[in-house]
Amino acid sequence: MPFTANRDFLRKPRMITSAEGMYYTSSDGRKIMDGTAGLWCVNAGHRDPHIVEAVKHQVNKLDYAPSFQFSHPQAFELSSKLVSMMPEGMDHVFFTNSGSESVDTALKIALHYHRMRGDGSRTRLIGRERGYHGTGFGGISVGGILPNRKHFGTLLTGVDHLRHTHDLDRNAFSRGCPKYGAELADDLERLVALHDASTIAAVIVEPLAGSTGVLLPPVGYLKRLREICDKYGILLIFDEVITAFGRLGTATAAEYFDVTPDIITTAKGLTNGVIPMGAVIVSDKIYKSAMANADAPIELFHGYTYSANPMSCAAALASLESYASNDLFQRAALLSPTWEKHLHALSELPNVVDIRNLGLVGAIELAPRQGEAPGARAYEAMLRAWDAGLMIRVTGDIIALSPPLIITEIQVETLFEQLTKILKDLP
Ligand SMILES: Cc1ncc(COP(=O)(O)O)c(C=O)c1O
Repeated sequence: MPFTANRDFLRKPRMITSAEGMYYTSSDGRKIMDGTAGLWCVNAGHRDPHIVEAVKHQVNKLDYAPSFQFSHPQAFELSSKLVSMMPEGMDHVFFTNSGSESVDTALKIALHYHRMRGDGSRTRLIGRERGYHGTGFGGISVGGILPNRKHFGTLLTGVDHLRHTHDLDRNAFSRGCPKYGAELADDLERLVALHDASTIAAVIVEPLAGSTGVLLPPVGYLKRLREICDKYGILLIFDEVITAFGRLGTATAAEYFDVTPDIITTAKGLTNGVIPMGAVIVSDKIYKSAMANADAPIELFHGYTYSANPMSCAAALASLESYASNDLFQRAALLSPTWEKHLHALSELPNVVDIRNLGLVGAIELAPRQGEAPGARAYEAMLRAWDAGLMIRVTGDIIALSPPLIITEIQVETLFEQLTKILKDLP
């Protein structure tokens, strides 16, 4: 099983047999509140009737159509819809099947862009320490999480990393984005001084890093990064696989932070998790350059058998419709102060060393247990939460929370009451 303590799981499996709205049902018949929207993807809640119907309808009409040299109307309808939700100027879409594929696609598009404009020495990719960009070789190379990298050889060459922004000494228990650390964006200047801008194709960051345990960008950090990229002709990629589609109360984190990158990667919430799909959105500049400078009838030698699969397109179109008709992004924005208040009320509990939040995202960082492997304490919290009827996600000793955007105020209260009990008793 992926990213799972398999031996432990087999001793006491945690099996899910059905789901509806905010809840799963476990194989032993218990209701489990979904505190994580699956893996940050079920933004409209489980089995949203509109999405279920759309998928049923699609499978009865067009189950598959190839996307190499052919297409189908929903693919274009979906790209137009997506573009309408993106920052201005981000107006072309390439479909993938996952966040990892979106990241690989974005990195390849960045390299392709520079080469096609005759600037082919720009081959270096810059990621960030503690970044998570999925599990493809591109993603783990620009990613910065040690266990995801160390077993897998030399990875891509010509990659470097910015320093991460986590600074508990200055920023612990911040509400919203931390105050200190915008100057860490200047680390890009250090890498330019080391490698020269003429060798750097792109910088990729998560505007809000999730998988490493929720790290928020310091106030002003992303704007600064954009400015430095502009200064040196480096493309800026925002990996929005978890932030796109409402998590921060806006369609994208780019919109929330008012910083427009050159490429945005998405997946997860695009289809509400119902059918795998990802999408990479690029700026007009990148698209036009590929069209104008193509050296063959096929402009981009890249794609997947299931790019723009009709079933995925139907699920995505219905998901975007559900988000809009239920005002889910606005709902997330309106609920976020309540979320923040209840989350930060846990700050005095034993072993809590930090709490952080933005939109409908929260993290509780615990002190590691003396004499045990890092992560043991939070792992036990996850097991106890499951037994108590709550699904949480943990990375190291950090508990990450990202509920479906349909969560109610009462359910927010219940979630944090349950978590308070668990943390109070947790050794
Ligand atoms: C920022 C980010 N990028 C990429 C991915 C990879 O997505 P997937 O698991 O769909 O390949 C994730 C998954 O959590 C992610 O959070």
